[in-house]
Amino acid sequence: MKTDIPYNQLVDVERRRQETYRKAQVYSRCIVALATVAALLLAATALYNLLTPRAPPTHPAPSSSLRLPRAPSCSDPCRIVLLESIPEGLTFNSSTPHPSIYQAWLHLMAEARSSVDIASFYWTLTNKDTGTHEPSANQGETVLKTLAKLSGKVSVRIAVNTPQHSQPQDDLRLLNASGANIREVNVKKLTSGVLHTKFWVVDKKHIYIGSANMDWRSLTQVKELGAVVYNCSCLAADLGKIFEAYWFLGESDTVPSPWPPSFSTNYNKDTPLELPLNNTPSNVYLSSSPPSFCGTGRTGDLQSILSVMEDAQSFIYIAVMNYLPTMEFSHPKRYWADIDTQLRRVSYEKRVRVRLLISCWASTQPIMFPFLKSLASVYDPKSRLDIQVRLFVVPATPQQKEIPFARVNHNKYMVTDKIAYIGTSNWSGDYFVSTAGSALVVNQTASESSETTVQSQLQAVFERDWDSAYSTPLTQHSNLKNLC
Ligand SMILES: *[C@@H]1O[C@H](CO)[C@@H](O)[C@H](O)[C@H]1NC(C)=O
Ligand SMILES: *[C@@H]1O[C@H](CO)[C@@H](O)[C@H](O)[C@H]1NC(C)=O
Ligand SMILES: *[C@@H]1O[C@H](CO)[C@@H](O)[C@H](O)[C@H]1NC(C)=O
Ligand SMILES: *[C@@H]1O[C@H](CO)[C@@H](O)[C@H](O)[C@H]1NC(C)=O
Ligand SMILES: *[C@@H]1O[C@H](CO)[C@@H](O)[C@H](O)[C@H]1NC(C)=O
Repeated sequence: MKTDIPYNQLVDVERRRQETYRKAQVYSRCIVALATVAALLLAATALYNLLTPRAPPTHPAPSSSLRLPRAPSCSDPCRIVLLESIPEGLTFNSSTPHPSIYQAWLHLMAEARSSVDIASFYWTLTNKDTGTHEPSANQGETVLKTLAKLSGKVSVRIAVNTPQHSQPQDDLRLLNASGANIREVNVKKLTSGVLHTKFWVVDKKHIYIGSANMDWRSLTQVKELGAVVYNCSCLAADLGKIFEAYWFLGESDTVPSPWPPSFSTNYNKDTPLELPLNNTPSNVYLSSSPPSFCGTGRTGDLQSILSVMEDAQSFIYIAVMNYLPTMEFSHPKRYWADIDTQLRRVSYEKRVRVRLLISCWASTQPIMFPFLKSLASVYDPKSRLDIQVRLFVVPATPQQKEIPFARVNHNKYMVTDKIAYIGTSNWSGDYFVSTAGSALVVNQTASESSETTVQSQLQAVFERDWDSAYSTPLTQHSNLKNLC
């Protein structure tokens, strides 16, 4: 759904806070080179307090001469499963069979013994909102019924972006009447963004995270990607802290600064959680945005994306619905090129192969294309510059065309030769500066196990889509009006 966020001074505040923090990091790195470890600790603490009176978005980067204590490792038998929603009618030649998001949600609800916590943008699980009488709404309706039944038996908490008056609220009313606890988070008021996160924490043990909204279309009419991790209390405890932050904001209606210690984490890009994932030793962490919603130690979502790109050695594949080097919803207009610059930089400095698979549908803003063409112009085989862009179109029958806000590739992930990054954000500035989102970052670089890694599974999903008949190269001459 279109969410128009008016520009607000807070965007500036966020930006300045990030800049201040970046400066703080640079200063502390210089001092590392000059001082002893003891002196460093004192100086860094002083600088840190001086320059970042508020909670920092990420943990200070450890330098080679100063190792932070390793985060404790986890011995849970964590099992991760990649999930997809494939819109009705889409068929692929190569099979990469993954369970559906629908199956995983039902499984999670069947497993639930004590609690289900859901962070969500909006709820339209029945097709009352469209008046189309779509039989494909049945999966969403089953999810809603099952969750309502569960709400009477276990603790069900729902954090949802404060609904606009025009948005249907029947699902939330039903769940509330069935015993669920619901808190509306007014992110528009807090940071002039929205609560755009989509994840589940079940029994403080299993988690789901991904692009699907609590929307019937996300199960049968929109292409989505997510992951479920079973039997993983250490990761669930950490995602639980992000949920508790939304839960807190839903009640307090102000952003604490700094966040109380219970929201802090040891797990971030520098000291990830070490755990076995499908019997493969892995490094994992959860990133979050906006920075002002992050407890101490949490890696911001933007920092996580930039560092995953930095770490890539041979390729970076990105599949996102929207890509814009701008603040999409700001007035006056603002250019925002942190991600764009990083892609051009790693392409030039490290000759990394970059592929972007972007969605093209009726609601695509034409302003996206000149920027994508500009990025795709960084292509010259002789110089080994290799950025390519393709547009993915989900075809629709005349009947499917009647369904509003459907038939689109809504994925938000990135896969490199080392890392799988599964997120919930569109890729434009707003989603990292003012809007709440989060991502699961899985590093199985060191894997010698025979089981296929999440990274290789995600790579196969990307390659399947990239090579499919549904994607078209974006060239300078592409006639986009006819394509989408
Ligand atoms: C992502 O961007 C699109 C287009 O601006 C917008 O409609 C949508 O609400 C955004 N968020 C989601 C649900 O991914
Ligand atoms: C849930 O129901 C209670 C009692 O009927 C009501 O006071 C409350 O406002 C409802 N909350 C939401 C979010 O609908
Ligand atoms: C979690 O682990 C237990 C014990 O090994 C196992 O019986 C159960 O099936 C696992 N749960 C899931 C959802 O995989
Ligand atoms: C992934 O893990 C390897 C070794 O376990 C480490 O060297 C590398 O820096 C990690 N990459 C990222 C982006 O965290
Ligand atoms: C499958 O392969 C055939 C033959 O190569 C091709 O014509 C068709 O477009 C492919 N379909 C998809 C969905 O990629």
